[in-house]
Amino acid sequence: MRAITYTEYGSPDVLRFTEVAKPAPKDNQVLIKVRAASLNALDWRMMRGKPLFARLMIGGLRKPKLTRPGVDVAGQVEAVGKNVTQFKPGDEVFGACRGAFAEYVCVIEDTLALKPANISFDDAAAVPVAAISALQGLRDKGRIQRGRKVLVDGAAGGVGTFAVQIAKSFGAEVTAVCSTRNVDTARSIGADHVLDYTREDFTHSGQRYDLIIAANAYHSIFDYRRALSQDGRFVIVGGGWAQMLQAILLGPFLSLIGSKKMCFFVAKINKKDVMLLGDLLEAGKVVPVIDRRYPLSEVAEALRYLEEGHARGKVVIRVEDDFKT
Ligand SMILES: NC(=O)c1ccc[n+]([C@@H]2O[C@H](COP(=O)([O-])OP(=O)(O)OC[C@H]3O[C@@H](n4cnc5c(N)ncnc54)[C@H](OP(=O)(O)O)[C@@H]3O)[C@@H](O)[C@H]2O)c1
Repeated sequence: MRAITYTEYGSPDVLRFTEVAKPAPKDNQVLIKVRAASLNALDWRMMRGKPLFARLMIGGLRKPKLTRPGVDVAGQVEAVGKNVTQFKPGDEVFGACRGAFAEYVCVIEDTLALKPANISFDDAAAVPVAAISALQGLRDKGRIQRGRKVLVDGAAGGVGTFAVQIAKSFGAEVTAVCSTRNVDTARSIGADHVLDYTREDFTHSGQRYDLIIAANAYHSIFDYRRALSQDGRFVIVGGGWAQMLQAILLGPFLSLIGSKKMCFFVAKINKKDVMLLGDLLEAGKVVPVIDRRYPLSEVAEALRYLEEGHARGKVVIRVEDDFKT
């Protein structure tokens, strides 16, 4: 089968579109014929292996241990191992795996859910990592509640476009922060207020928010703190390394002063949340924003684009013989 592989850290030039052996499912695995995959920042972060300390977390100090990129996947079950109970050949599924940029992938059933019949493979593949990060950031870390004021910083990207819609589905009053070219998109996905960060800085506006979720954090943690209401919460999903480090190192201490809480967190993919997102998709409460689609052979180009940092929503890889742009 054809797959994307890499054996050294570096720019997208290290990626190879090549023939590898088709995998066979282990007893607890499902073999998926991949129809679509989507990109996440973690794909290019793992490919770059930067900063160096990140290699300690992903494994492979000198060379990557994981040589097959791609996490978000949607496709059709082709075969199942003998201990698999929840899926059968022919089922259409979506979820998270290792090595999604390939024609086939094996994955344990715990990170998969059935794809709603009314949702395309592209839309389903766009969901897992970004939407689960948004969901867990808002619900678990942010303790989102109906009627509260929620600000999504970095609202136009993969995580942000889901965060706006999921926050609305919880009944929050949502303010989206993005650049001028994405203001209409932010409105179209349901944001009640949209702030153009090239024209105004919400951290100095005097407005206060009950929950700030930073999909892309580029302000200092003290600026975010100023923009929180008395008992507000700040949750950082991603953005600059300096901002993430600030939240990891200073967040716990700042959370001890007064009643504002600040934290960084790492999303955990689980079946229950993949299924919950399937329900939101099926009901039309969450509609993935897809910026671009690329064929499997052009994953390197797709990652180059994502790495520029201004994708609008998600970038999808179509893994089909009849791919047409
Ligand atoms: N902690 C976790 O478990 C976890 C999980 C998933 C992702 N992440 C991290 O979360 C971050 C976001 O992921 P993503 O998938 O949303 O990335 P992405 O899709 O690449 O984000 C691109 C978006 O960032 C926006 N952006 C760029 N500069 C900005 C700024 N100064 N202010 C506000 N928005 C800005 C861009 O909007 P404009 O074009 O309008 O500027 C663009 O739409 C990444 O750092 C990723 O590594 C963490």
